[in-house]
Amino acid sequence: MRSQVVIIGGGPSGLLLGQLLHRKGIEAVVLERKTRDYVLARIRAGILESGMVGLLREAGVADRLDRECFRHDGTLIADGAEMFHVDFKDLIGKSVILYGQTEVTRDLYDAREAAGATTIFNVEDVVIEGADTDAPHVTFTEHGQARRIDCDYIAGCDGFHGVSRQTIPACVRTEYEKVYPFGWLGILSETPPVNDELIYANSERGFALCSMRNASLSRYYIQCSLSDSVEDWSDAAFWDELKRRIPEEAAEILVTGPSIEKSIAPLRSFVTEPMRWGRLFLCGDAAHIVPPTGAKGLNTAASDIHYLYEGLVQVYEAGDREGIDRYSERALSRVWKAERFSWWMTTLLHRFPDMSAFDLRIQKADIAFLRENRDAQKVMATNYVGLPY
Ligand code: APR
Ligand code: PHB
Repeated sequence: MRSQVVIIGGGPSGLLLGQLLHRKGIEAVVLERKTRDYVLARIRAGILESGMVGLLREAGVADRLDRECFRHDGTLIADGAEMFHVDFKDLIGKSVILYGQTEVTRDLYDAREAAGATTIFNVEDVVIEGADTDAPHVTFTEHGQARRIDCDYIAGCDGFHGVSRQTIPACVRTEYEKVYPFGWLGILSETPPVNDELIYANSERGFALCSMRNASLSRYYIQCSLSDSVEDWSDAAFWDELKRRIPEEAAEILVTGPSIEKSIAPLRSFVTEPMRWGRLFLCGDAAHIVPPTGAKGLNTAASDIHYLYEGLVQVYEAGDREGIDRYSERALSRVWKAERFSWWMTTLLHRFPDMSAFDLRIQKADIAFLRENRDAQKVMATNYVGLPY
C-alpha cells in the first residue's frame, strides 16, 4: 500500500492533520493502536484557543462546536479567601472557547468517516523505516498480518508513549523535562458548574480548579499527592477538600453530586528537540507535554499541526520545502512559550512540598502583582487566549 502521508496516532493531533490534508486532496492514512471508542473515552481539558478553533473551521469540523460551545471572556483567580477576575475581553479584546477535547476528537472522527478516509485501528508493532531517506515506509501488524505502507512523509502524532519519538536516534535528540511533585485528582459530575467561568485557586491546602463541560456537567480538580490513589478519595472527601480550597462565596453555592469519572494525572513539562528527523515530523504529545494548568496541551498540538500542514501543502502544491525544513524551528519557538506559561501558572498556584516561608511570600507577591497590575494581567491574558501562530 502507498499513501502520500502516514499519520501515526489517531488522537486529536493526527485526526486534525488528516482532515486538513484531506481537504487539500493530500492523502493520509491514520494508524491507531487502540479503537475509536477507547480514544473517545479519554477525558482531557476543555479550553480551546481561537487558533485551534480556526483550524477546526478550516478542517470543516466546527459546526457542532459553533452550536454547543461556550465563550469565556475571562477567568477567576483565587488566593485563599480572595478572588479576582482577569477579563481577557476587556484587557486584550479576546476570549477562549470551552468545548471538551473529547468532543473535538469525536467531531474529527465523524468527519474522517464521512470523508471515507482510511483509519486503521488496533495496529500493533508499528515500525518507522527509512525516515532519513527519500523513501520511508511504515510496517505494522493488523489482525496478526504484517503490513507495509510506503509514503513520502510520516507524521508522528502518537502521544508521549508512542514509537515516533523513539525512532529518532538518541544521539540526535535532546530532551528537557521537569516532573512536578504532585498530581491532579479530577472528577466529572452531573451538577451545574459553580461559576460561569473557570476558577483557578491557590489555597494553603493546595491548588483547586473549578471547570465545566456544559450547564449541567462540571469538571473539578484538586492538587493531590503522587502517592494518592483514586480509591483514597471518596466523592464526599473530594467535595469537602474542594470546598476548603476555594473562597467561601464559591464553596457556599457549590452543588455536589456523585462523580461519573474520577482519575489522577501526574504533572510534567517535557520537550524533545528537534521535532523533525528527515521525513518524520513529531506533533503534539509525541514531542512535548505541559502540565494542565492553563490548558495548553491540545492547543500546542494544534499549532504544530498548523505548521506541518502549511509545510506539506507548500511541498505538494508548489514543490517548495521551506515550510517543512523550518517546521521544527517554528513549532518549537511556540512550544517553549506555552511551556513557560504552563510552568508559570503551575508555579503560581500550587503548593510545592519543599516550599520555604520565603518561597510562599514570593508566590503571594506574584499573585498580588497579577491582581493589582493591568499589564501583568495583559501578559497572562495574551498567553491564556493563545499566542499567534
Ligand atoms: N501506533 C499507533 N498509534 C499509537 C501508538 C503506536 N505505536 N502509540 C500511541 N498511539 C496512539 C494513542 O493510542 C493515541 O490515540 O496515538 C494517539 C495519541 O493521542 P494523544 O495522546 O491524545 O496525543 P495528541 O493527539 O498529540 O493530542 C494532544 O493534547 O490535551 C493534550 O495530552 C493531551 O491528548 C492530548 C493532547
Ligand atoms: C478542564 O476543563 O478539564 C480544564 C480546564 C482548564 C485547565 C485544565 C483543565 O487549565
